[in-house]
Amino acid sequence: MPLLEIKNIHKRYRMKNQNQSLINSLSGIFKKNHSNHPSLHALGGVSFEIQENESVGLVGESGCGKSTLVKAICRLTDINEGEIFLNGVDISAITPNKFGHTSHRSQIQVVFQDSHESLNPRYTAFQCIADPLKNILHIRDKTQLENKINELADMVSFPRELLHRLPHQLSGGQKARINIARAIAVSPRLLILDEPTSALDVSIQAVILKLLVKLRKELNMSYLFVSHDLNVVRMLCDKIIVMYMGKVVETGDAKTLYYKPAHPYTNALISSIPSINKTNRVILDGEISSPIDPDPNVCRFSGRCPKSVNQCQIEQPLLHEISSQHFVACHFVDP
Ligand SMILES: Nc1ncnc2c1ncn2[C@@H]1O[C@H](COP(=O)(O)OP(=O)(O)OP(=O)(O)O)[C@@H](O)[C@H]1O
Ligand SMILES: [Mg+2]
Repeated sequence: MPLLEIKNIHKRYRMKNQNQSLINSLSGIFKKNHSNHPSLHALGGVSFEIQENESVGLVGESGCGKSTLVKAICRLTDINEGEIFLNGVDISAITPNKFGHTSHRSQIQVVFQDSHESLNPRYTAFQCIADPLKNILHIRDKTQLENKINELADMVSFPRELLHRLPHQLSGGQKARINIARAIAVSPRLLILDEPTSALDVSIQAVILKLLVKLRKELNMSYLFVSHDLNVVRMLCDKIIVMYMGKVVETGDAKTLYYKPAHPYTNALISSIPSINKTNRVILDGEISSPIDPDPNVCRFSGRCPKSVNQCQIEQPLLHEISSQHFVACHFVDP
C-alpha cells in the first residue's frame, strides 16, 4: 500500500463576482444565485502516489497549484472533489479543523515556502522547535524537551548557542534549519518541502539540499519536494511530477524525465536550465490560458505549445503510459 495516494483531486477558489456589492445590496430583495460565480481552478483532477521512503519532486511554474496541492495534502484547505489516502485512510474525509487533533497530523509535516513567515516572530529558535514537541507529542518534562531540542539542533547543524535567538536575529539558512528541525521533531513519515530553498542564495541552497539528502537517509522518510527548478529536483528525487495549470502533464522516474522528456512543457522546462554549451533552448511564447473556469475540452497548455493543432482545442489529452511508469498527457506522444 502506498504511503500517500492522491485520487483525482480538484480545488476551485470561488472568484468574487465583479457585481458582488450590487448582489449583496440586492440580496434582501432577490434570492442570491451562487451557481454562476466564476471560479479559479487551482487543481483540476490531480492523481499520484508516494511510496514509503520514496522522494518525489513536484515541479511547475509559479501559480500552477503546487502550494495549493501541499495545503490540500496536509489538510490546511478543503478540496472540492477527490480523495487523499494516508496509509489507506481517507484523510480528505476529515475536516481541516479536526485534522490537527488526529494522530495523522504527526505523520505529515511541511516546511513552507517562506522560512521567515512560517516562524512565530515572538518565539526563540528553542520555542519554535519545542512547539510541535509539546503540542503534538505532548512532551512536558523540561529536561526531556531540552535534550530533544539539542539533539534536533545537532541533526540540522544549527548551533546550540543560537537557540535563544528570535527569528529576526537569524540568517535565512539558519531559519531554514529551524523549520526543518521543527518538521522532523515529530518523526513524520512524509515530509513535504515547499520550495524550502527558494529564498536562499545558491551556496546556502546547496548546503540545505545536502542536509535534506542526509536526513532522508537517517530518518527513512518520504519526501514531496516542491520546486520550480527541475535541476534541483532531479538530484534529490526518485520520481518527478510535472504540473501545468493545475494538471499533471508528465510523471516518471527522475532520470527518464530529465533525459527523455516527452511533454512539450517538460521539454521547455529542461531546456531553460542554464548550461554553458546549450544551443537548443525552447522559448515559450503565445497566450497563457486563463485558470478561471477553463474549457474542459481544451488542453491547458495549447496556447503556448509549439506542437498545438486543432485537436488540442477540442479534446483535452489524458495521462497515458508511454513506457514503464512514464506517463504523459499530450496527443502527440506515442508509446
Ligand atoms: N487562498 C486563495 N484564494 C484564491 N486563489 C488562490 C488562493 N491560493 C492560491 N490561489 C490561486 O491558485 C493558483 C495556484 O496557486 P499556488 O499558490 O498553489 O501556486 P504555486 O504553484 O504554489 O506558485 P508559486 O510557485 O509562485 O509558489 C493561483 O492562480 C493562485 O492565484
Ligand atoms: Mg507555492
